[in-house]
Amino acid sequence: MDEALARTAAFPRLRYMGSKYRLAPHLAEVFVELGGHTALDAFSGSGVVSYLLKSLGYQVTSNDFLNFPSIICRAAVVNQTVQLSETDMDKICGTSADGRDFIQRTFDGLYFTQNDRVFLDSAWSHVDQLTGHKRAIAISALVLASAKKQPRGVFTFTDLRYDDGRRDLHLPLREHFRECVAAYNRVVFTNRRRNRAFCGDVSSVDATGHDVVYLDPPYAPPRDDNDYIKRYHFLEGLSVYWQGQKIMEHTKTKKLEKRFTPFSYKRTVTEALRETFKRFKDSTIVLSYSSNALPDAAAIIGLLREVKDDVELRPIAHEYSFGTHSAAKRRDVAEYLFIGR
Ligand SMILES: C[S@@+](CC[C@H](N)C(=O)[O-])C[C@H]1O[C@@H](n2cnc3c(N)ncnc32)[C@H](O)[C@@H]1O
Repeated sequence: MDEALARTAAFPRLRYMGSKYRLAPHLAEVFVELGGHTALDAFSGSGVVSYLLKSLGYQVTSNDFLNFPSIICRAAVVNQTVQLSETDMDKICGTSADGRDFIQRTFDGLYFTQNDRVFLDSAWSHVDQLTGHKRAIAISALVLASAKKQPRGVFTFTDLRYDDGRRDLHLPLREHFRECVAAYNRVVFTNRRRNRAFCGDVSSVDATGHDVVYLDPPYAPPRDDNDYIKRYHFLEGLSVYWQGQKIMEHTKTKKLEKRFTPFSYKRTVTEALRETFKRFKDSTIVLSYSSNALPDAAAIIGLLREVKDDVELRPIAHEYSFGTHSAAKRRDVAEYLFIGR
């Protein structure tokens, strides 16, 4: 387990709402206790839990309804051997192959510097010629580089109001990209299992053949919202060079259309959880949930009991740190792990 955690600590860290990077030690304990050979990470997000499961030796299936999370899992979880070479990197960082300028035209004055936007366009002109895992690493690195350079990693505003002079906000995107490729290259390894990554709604994931199913849906907050597209639309668009994506032109941030998910709303979350538990009733279910979200713990236990005899709730203590980043001050909210077997 220690080796798996050491590997996971090196996983390139995307700032992502609800990421379980800091919970990895707790999750690892639970997964080791549960055992099994195959695992599904049905809401993979930043990819850190899928990568932990891979490091623990599971045959991993990752899924998310956004595209960039599934590309990250292709690069780091499905991919077992391929790295991006210095030559590949030099090419991607060189002059444009076709002079495309979609990002420069569309996001002028909104995000990054002009040089950064030129770089993103020209980098994509080369990425378009890559296939397979090399392409996945290159896109993952572009996504991570863009998230690092954007204040707080979210694309809900277009000015530099959060600029605190940090290196990440000033390093040219091209340099960020090189660092991010190196970071993804470093975490490539084989666990000798056929891991897979999908992009789709959880309701369309094949429910058979998973010993363990990890569920980390968005939390339905009592107020406020938890819209992933609103925060990460730029990363989602970038991951496919906006091909087939519809930008809401009247929005200041040039965001993409909101993606409906029943997990985000008070009126639909209970039924969505019930349906999901039912779908995965033949697997051991591990669910992450926040103590200040809806429905509450008692209701979730009730829902799990509809399909599982043995249901356990484990609140996670706050005071720990993990990896190279010391734990930020935790808010007064507990993370829950529900285990149904
Ligand atoms: C709390 S985050 C997962 C965080 C992840 N475990 C991590 O450590 O980074 C929830 C994820 O669920 C995805 N999502 C939301 N609704 C979904 C749905 N109906 N089907 C599949 N994925 C969905 C979001 O795109 C988001 O990445």
